[in-house]
Amino acid sequence: MKKLKTLSLLLAVPCLATAAPDARLEQFNNWKFGLFIHWGVCSLASWENSWPLMRPLNKRRPGDTEEFYATLAPKFDPVKFDPDAWVKLAQDSGQRYIVFTAKHLDGFAMWDSLYTDYKITKTPYGKDIVKQLADACHRANMPLGFYYSVADMNHPDYRDTSKRISENWHGEPWRPEWPVYLDYVGLQLTELLTHYGPVAMIWFDGVAPLEEFDGRRFTRLIHELQPDALINNRLGVGGDFDTPEQHNPKGVPTKQVAGSNTDVINKTVAGTVPKAEDFRPWETCQVIDQKNWFYHQDEHIFKSPKELIQLLAVTSSMGGNLLLDVGPGPDGTIRPEFTERLLAMGAWLKVNGDSIYGTTYGPLQNLPFGRSTRKDKTIYLHVFNWPADGKLEVDGLSARITSVKVLAGGAKLVYHQNKDKLEIEVPRQAPDENDSVLAVLTR
Ligand code: GLC
Repeated sequence: MKKLKTLSLLLAVPCLATAAPDARLEQFNNWKFGLFIHWGVCSLASWENSWPLMRPLNKRRPGDTEEFYATLAPKFDPVKFDPDAWVKLAQDSGQRYIVFTAKHLDGFAMWDSLYTDYKITKTPYGKDIVKQLADACHRANMPLGFYYSVADMNHPDYRDTSKRISENWHGEPWRPEWPVYLDYVGLQLTELLTHYGPVAMIWFDGVAPLEEFDGRRFTRLIHELQPDALINNRLGVGGDFDTPEQHNPKGVPTKQVAGSNTDVINKTVAGTVPKAEDFRPWETCQVIDQKNWFYHQDEHIFKSPKELIQLLAVTSSMGGNLLLDVGPGPDGTIRPEFTERLLAMGAWLKVNGDSIYGTTYGPLQNLPFGRSTRKDKTIYLHVFNWPADGKLEVDGLSARITSVKVLAGGAKLVYHQNKDKLEIEVPRQAPDENDSVLAVLTR
């Protein structure tokens, strides 16, 4: 008996240690809204980086060739790039962190990497973009993370670059050069993690098979160089948070469905409210236009401010973060269609930010009129469909309620609670056409 007790005590210690709240993840969860920036030499040609070159030659548009792509870097000269303006835009939009494409699939380094000539300091522009952006972020206290593609179309140790990209874009891990390529990844990550101040996260991306990239090695390296940096889930080894792309999970993600790729999160179950300790942090990355991460000159369909505000509320209601993307143009400016929408989100957040920042998934996951988020004892009701009859009915709230207010302006509302049925008397007119928030304080 005694022996057993000692054993369970021994076992309990490491369990407790891992269950302790992780301050870095808590901070990440509280941020809720970030700016994703996809920018590179491909922005000159309105290309999605190297993706058009993944298609076989006979399926490409005429002129879409490796030779054409090679003409871009020698022309890249974004003279209007103003990192402080980017950071200010993120701040004014209510975004709490930035993730920037330091290196995308094409292998082009947006910093002055010692280990390649395919980099920003060899273009007519000539200055280190990552450095300028990092300095601007640090001046403004804006956390900055780096997107880093482990796939690299330009590197001869990643793939035989005498061949067309369509033939070997998954890389060639069976060649003797592969370990040399992994060393290159390690050296570049070391540069990013040692030359540019605190790094909020390394946001990996790659192409299958991810197991070939030795995720454990790079996780160790990051933990060693910047223990506070978070790591996303795209390196085949789980990471700190999941990254559903261009969509939200159906329900609140839990550790049981944690993924080492972008798809596992689809197994979540709509309507469930997990225990706090089972929650798996996540961030959805989405675009403002229809499908593009990088700048596309002729793109003209964009999500409305209302859609974007509701997307943020829906994401928060399931405990996630929204990493919303812009693709700056070749001159370094962010197009007005993006800035207008981001600033509209910022204006909404100025008034309603309490219902987003620092919240977690709401206790009501099946509301017919909208969504819920929660912070301590306050439940925020995000009402997308405002009731026409002046009565908002909320089912399923068992906690005793002590007040109900309109978050914008603080007007107190009359309510009636009967067991788990709540009826709130609301003004006829929705307080906010995008998302009207009611703050429900519980005992
Ligand atoms: C997609 C795109 C890639 C982009 C990423 C962001 O995988 O193909 O270019 O960087 O989404 O999540």
